[in-house]
Amino acid sequence: MKYIKDKNIVIGISGGIAAYKSAELLRLIQKQDANVRVVMTHNAGYFVGPLTFEALSGKPVYTNTFEKGGNTEIRHIQWAEETDAVIVAPATANIIGKIANGIADDALSTFLLAVTCPVLICPSMNTNMYEKISVQRNIEILKKDGYFIVEPASGELACGTSGQGRLPEPEEILDRLIYCLSPKDFKGKKILVTAGPTREHIDPVRYISNPSSGKMGYAIARAAEHRGADVTLVSGPVNLEPPVNITMVNTVSAKDMAKAVFDNMENCDIIIKTAAVSDYRPKEAAKQKIKKGMDEISLVLQKNEDILFELGKNKKNRVLIGFAAETENLEKNAKDKLARKNLDIIVGNLVGERSDEEDDEKSPVFGMDTNKVVFFFRNGDTEHLPLMEKDMVAHALLDRIADLDKG
Ligand SMILES: Cc1cc2nc3c(=O)[nH]c(=O)nc-3n(C[C@H](O)[C@H](O)[C@H](O)COP(=O)(O)O)c2cc1C
Repeated sequence: MKYIKDKNIVIGISGGIAAYKSAELLRLIQKQDANVRVVMTHNAGYFVGPLTFEALSGKPVYTNTFEKGGNTEIRHIQWAEETDAVIVAPATANIIGKIANGIADDALSTFLLAVTCPVLICPSMNTNMYEKISVQRNIEILKKDGYFIVEPASGELACGTSGQGRLPEPEEILDRLIYCLSPKDFKGKKILVTAGPTREHIDPVRYISNPSSGKMGYAIARAAEHRGADVTLVSGPVNLEPPVNITMVNTVSAKDMAKAVFDNMENCDIIIKTAAVSDYRPKEAAKQKIKKGMDEISLVLQKNEDILFELGKNKKNRVLIGFAAETENLEKNAKDKLARKNLDIIVGNLVGERSDEEDDEKSPVFGMDTNKVVFFFRNGDTEHLPLMEKDMVAHALLDRIADLDKG
């Protein structure tokens, strides 16, 4: 299931050089199983033809206020009533000025006056244009009027200069769309999430680690931010883009991670520990690279601090969630951990090779975008979830945490 499935989204395209990126944005939103329609300014047609968007969306593109739609519909009113969110991308200096001043002299500006749903504006233009006092003034007006501004990125611009003004990548625009459409039921809550593996160095170039990708923890951090929480993400070394609008703390070893968690836990309402922390570290890490010589060498390992156990001892009113990836006896091991570490919920999954059998309970977990989990609750309840996108597992977990708060 996708979070914006079946939502009606309109992409408004104005005459900026980045108009070609709107085609990619359209495809990305369609992949979420949302319905997408396009409204274009006349000038946008100089950059990318309406036919492209008509073919991609499979729907007529609205470019002319006075063009008759099907039946007798007044298209800007009809479409406005049916729309759940609008993204204006790219938004030219011109369309920003028009929206800020209530001008309705073409299809897009007229449609935007008629909508009552959330509208995301993605300014995209040359840096000097973006920094112009009048443009900044208009953007401030839009913010005050309740429009959601997706800040342009910095970098090389199509006009050959460099600076702020680039249309953000479609993935970031989609992320902000989901933010706008999410309930803000975690507003006012401080959430600490840990994610990824740790690295325990043997020497400067070798370490003990595990294949945790961090995707589950990052999905939770993103989902919590979408739902209005103030999120701190303590991450081990991963290859993932940091979620927007959260506080990132990057760590390497279990020791670093413990310090980062203890430093940031004080005012947290909820702590969710998805990180795969090494239980042991080499007792002594060599200062220099260990040279190949002897046929056998031994490594003495020393136990790391159990972060979750320490958090459980110091729980106070905080909600504490742990994850348990087990290769056998999931229920017993997860329930033991739940009790031993004083948790509210433990999210369990059996790790192993998944076959094509539908009822196979094992999941590779590490590195995948999907996960099949079981929630074990403090009161003894158990809930089995089907195989789901990690984003959806994250929302399901947040739903259960919200229920704990109500209970
Ligand atoms: C090649 C070229 C690229 C342009 N790129 C941009 C741009 O990225 N952002 C912008 O605000 N205006 C840009 N403009 C200027 C707009 O096209 C112009 O202001 C136009 O009136 C905007 O009309 P619209 O807002 O109705 O689409 C560009 C113009 C040309 C000729």
